[in-house]
Amino acid sequence: MEAIKQIEQRALIAIQGAGSIQQLGAIRVQVLGKKGELTEFFKQMRDLTPDDRKQVGQVINTAKAALENALEQKQAVLEQAQLAQKLVNESIDVTLPGRNTRIGHLHPISKARERIEEFFLKLGFEIAEGPEVESDYYNFEALNVPAHHPAKAMADTFYFGDGSLLRTHTSPTQIRYMETHEPPFKMIAPGRVYRCDSDVTHTPMFHQVEGLVISPNLTMADLKSLLHELMQYYFEKSLDIRFRASYFPFTEPSAEVDITCVRCQGKGCRICSHTGWLEVLGCGMVHPNVLKAGNIDPEKFNGFAFGLGLERLAMLRYQVDDLRAFYENDLRMISQFTHL
Ligand code: FA5
Ligand code: MG
Repeated sequence: MEAIKQIEQRALIAIQGAGSIQQLGAIRVQVLGKKGELTEFFKQMRDLTPDDRKQVGQVINTAKAALENALEQKQAVLEQAQLAQKLVNESIDVTLPGRNTRIGHLHPISKARERIEEFFLKLGFEIAEGPEVESDYYNFEALNVPAHHPAKAMADTFYFGDGSLLRTHTSPTQIRYMETHEPPFKMIAPGRVYRCDSDVTHTPMFHQVEGLVISPNLTMADLKSLLHELMQYYFEKSLDIRFRASYFPFTEPSAEVDITCVRCQGKGCRICSHTGWLEVLGCGMVHPNVLKAGNIDPEKFNGFAFGLGLERLAMLRYQVDDLRAFYENDLRMISQFTHL
């Protein structure tokens, strides 16, 4: 009986000192398990006299009850501590700043293009496309720029060895469209063009939107009013626009359209080469030779055409003062235009 009490005392101390639920389980097995120290005494009881058996049995049962009680209490304490620890580990600090979800958006040049397309679609224009790798014929010759014509030097062209080239403007789509459509018609052709050019207002790859309207009785006034409407629509405000007489082999008469420089409001800065104006497009009445190249009879039809620079328009609308920034893929720059 003395030995039983000693086991009980040792076990109670061990239970008090248990630091984890696993340790507690090990103590339970060691004392009360199938081969536990107390269980062994139970097995020895059949060798005792009935009187002794009764006394010893009581001591064992008391010890067992005391140990089970102690185990249960300690178990509750340890579980409580475990839960408290878990709550600490999993707690959420609601005062921390939230994580931002970044939502993608269109590139400012794509937005500019969509806006221009929207304007012309409302007016019933068709949207056409043409290849970026062009022949000399469509890029120059059919547009009244014969071989060795000095106007060819107006564009610094990227040539491939086989005589094909990267189109320097979207104007070749005019010829391709005339070849395949019966007038009267009105179309625009947005797309990439390439020139060996790079500074604050020029990039080697840029976008133009070509426009071509063919009908029996068109005048320069029709062209001018359309472009004026376009600029109001695109910039969503009235702006100073000027038509400046110019020269293109494929139009006669020809003009270039300038817009007040948004950077300096016309005062003159490095963006506008201190003129106060930025050129955004070229235009004019389609040259009879070009109509003929497109199988259209210049005696029956005339038309006007224009080619505008999308980057220039985007630059002015979004107040970007270096065109090249659109293509540097710097998210700090591009992500500023989410809501515009
Ligand atoms: C042309 O390309 C003519 N094909 C436009 C045209 C079409 C005239 C139809 C008449 C009839 P120009 O080279 O000026 O013209 O270019 C047109 C516009 O493209 C310019 O006004 C400018 O806004 C833009 N542009 C020209 N070069 C660059 C460049 N390197 N980077 C960005 N924009 C440019
Ligand atoms: Mg020009």
